[in-house]
Order: sequence, then C-alpha cells, then structure tokens
Amino acid sequence: MDGNGRWAKRRGLPRTAGHTEGEENLAALVRVAVTRNVGWLTVFGFSTENWVRPRTEVRHILGLHRRLFGRVEELNQLNVQVKWMGRPFDTPGARTPKYVQRAIRKAVADTAQNTGMVLTVAFDYGSRAELVQAALDARRDGEIVSESSISNHLYLPELPPVDVVVRTSGERRISNFMLWQIVGARVYFTERTWPEFGAAELDAALALAAS
Ligand code: IPE
Ligand code: MG
Repeated sequence: MDGNGRWAKRRGLPRTAGHTEGEENLAALVRVAVTRNVGWLTVFGFSTENWVRPRTEVRHILGLHRRLFGRVEELNQLNVQVKWMGRPFDTPGARTPKYVQRAIRKAVADTAQNTGMVLTVAFDYGSRAELVQAALDARRDGEIVSESSISNHLYLPELPPVDVVVRTSGERRISNFMLWQIVGARVYFTERTWPEFGAAELDAALALAAS
C-alpha cells in the first residue's frame, strides 16, 4: 500500500495523515472487493525494513494497525476472515508491540468463522525472512528442502498462488513481498497513490488478473 507519504506531501499534510487516509482507504476497498467476489486480498501493511522510519511515524502506523485489526464488527458484517502474516512475535529481533499482537490475535480469532473473502494483512513481513524460516522449519521437521516442503512451511501455506500484484504510486519494481507466491502473477501498475486507489483501479487490476 505504497504512496501514503506522497499523497500527504502533495496536500501539504504530514506523512502520518497519509497513513491515516491509507487505512481508511483499505477499509473502503475491502467493502468494494467483497462486492466483486474477490476470494483473497493480501495487503502489505508494514515490512521488516520499515522499523527504521522515524519513531513517531512508526508509532502512528502501529496505532493504525490496531485500528485496522479492531474493525472486527465491520468485517464480520462483510463475512470477511482476517489473517495475519509476518515474523513470528517470538523471533529474535521481532519488535511488534504487545498491543498490536493482541489486536492481531483478536481479529484473527473473532473472524475465523467467516466464510467470505480472506483479508490477509502482512505486518512485520518480509519475503526473504519468510523463505529462510520456511527452509529452516522444513529441515527442523526432518523434511528435505524441496519446492513442496518450502511451500508447506510458508507463514500461511493455505494462501493460493497470487493472480495479480498491484503496485501503486508509479513504483515499477518488485519489493520484498510474496516473492515465492507471485511466480506467474500479472502485475498491475498505477500512478495513483494508495489513498487514491479505488473501485475503478481494483476493477482494472481484476480484469488484468482474468486476462
Ligand atoms: C506506504 O506509504 C505505507 C508504509 C510503507 C507503511 P509510504 O510511507 O511508503 O509512502 P511514500 O512511498 O513515502 O509516498
Ligand atoms: Mg513508499
């Protein structure tokens, strides 16, 4: 969900205002995605690399994740199941504060019975960290390291292969996101920043996925 900072800067607002707008936009886009019968929507909320940002910005983004994972009532009304993927909280170096951990656990538990769209939020996520962990876990379980054993040890092995990757804000490069899972995916590029990404862009991305 890239471009929150640029969205804010263009309007003479602090970066934090862009993140707030981005969180609101995600809530709105989830409602649209449900009407389009999207099965799986996975969003990159915060990466393993994002912790180096200024402390006030990180704190603001953490608060927004608490808000996002706190939208349980709304998500239940939409029959949306929430999942989280990222570095396990007990990993050396993992820094997710307790209040975010609690919000994540509660959202996952309280929406687990929903049967509609699966909304996965990647928080403290990095694809390389995920793949290293998958290889280590496969070995720990006595499996040989193979494509299937790595697939089976990803953070969320149940996620299907990705149909379409969306890159907002004119970014035309791949980031540290689902590198294993995006093989063969289409890539939808848009100049729009994340807070501006609406129903029309979602439809265009879905059309690309289906093409
Ligand atoms: C995305 O917006 C939000 C996070 C990475 C948490 P950015 O903060 O990357 O916005 P830009 O790239 O500076 O515009
Ligand atoms: Mg960015």
